[in-house]
Amino acid sequence: MYKILLKPLLFSMDAESAHDLAMSAGELVSSSHLLQDLTKSIYGFEHSNLERNFWGINFKNPIGLAAGFDKNARIINGIAALGFGFTEIGSITAQSSKGNPKPRAFRLPEDDSLINRMGLNNEGAEKIISRLIGTDFPIPLGVNIAKTHNPAILGDKAIQDYVISFEEAEKVADYITINISCPNTEEGKTFEDSEALSALLEAIQPTSRSLPVLVKFSVDLELELLSELTEICENFGIQGYVVTNTSSKRDQLKSSSKLIQSIGRGGLSGASISEKSTQIVHWLRNEIKTSHPIIGVGGINSVDEAKRKLDAGADLLQIYTGLVYEGPGLVQQLKKGLIDYSVAERSNVTSHSTGIASS
Ligand code: FNR
Repeated sequence: MYKILLKPLLFSMDAESAHDLAMSAGELVSSSHLLQDLTKSIYGFEHSNLERNFWGINFKNPIGLAAGFDKNARIINGIAALGFGFTEIGSITAQSSKGNPKPRAFRLPEDDSLINRMGLNNEGAEKIISRLIGTDFPIPLGVNIAKTHNPAILGDKAIQDYVISFEEAEKVADYITINISCPNTEEGKTFEDSEALSALLEAIQPTSRSLPVLVKFSVDLELELLSELTEICENFGIQGYVVTNTSSKRDQLKSSSKLIQSIGRGGLSGASISEKSTQIVHWLRNEIKTSHPIIGVGGINSVDEAKRKLDAGADLLQIYTGLVYEGPGLVQQLKKGLIDYSVAERSNVTSHSTGIASS
């Protein structure tokens, strides 16, 4: 149904307009119990084998919506009705931002991939969070925080900017993800730098917080730097990792170089980053040997890809670009395909698991 009817319609529009249309549909569903029930009757699927428990949080299934889709937390109920096990809103930033000029989102259909340079457009932490306070969410809520998209906010001001968003997010989140791929110097150096990350975590003090704090890594990290950054995270009490964010590289794409050049800069997501992001999950789990839960994200568009992330060491999964190419039915497809996987995994719990749910 998605591939025959909806996808051709959505793909006849530019990528951001298609996303806006999907968001409008999501808002409509989120505002109506009737539409949520209808959505659940089409897409709903539950099985006790899919349940997980990490950080004391119950997840009905391991499939989450990745950050960037529902930046302003407008469609949480709709996302739950589609059968997601959790959602991550944001990135939210201390100050609101309109983001970069349009166009800023592009499809690479030959690669089942997207390139985006949205520029952290969002309504601002306080406004978004105040709308959520007092609401009961049907699924666990992750809040992804980033630095306000303003090149003048650097160094200590950048750290304070994160702290403001963190303290807002704390009011509603089940977990908080710190997106550290944000520029922190005029030369564009990000928080994926030992000194900058240490200063940021020193200010946030994850161990003094009452909820799990996760860090999200870019897919472009090399093992040595990843290892250094993880050691810092572990020393500061980070309790999990989201692996990975998008890539600024353009390796091994099938799309024409003319198309790629015409798009310009931006973060590459989807099938073309899947292998590298799985490798980073593998490094974190098997080389660096973190014992904390890993949320695997990057190019999951099929049950096989989802299994690859889990085999590499992921505990939970997130999708974004796969939804664009495969449609919302992907969530149910992944869940059905993972029923047996979770049974096998559960009977073989390894030391990294902090608590597979007993059902
Ligand atoms: C993203 N992603 C993202 N990540 C993040 O931490 N904060 C954000 O604001 C955004 N924004 C965003 C916008 C768009 C249009 C896309 C496609 C992606 C990255 C996303 O959460 C995910 O890490 C990557 O896209 C890789 O997963 P997929 O898309 O390959 O499943």
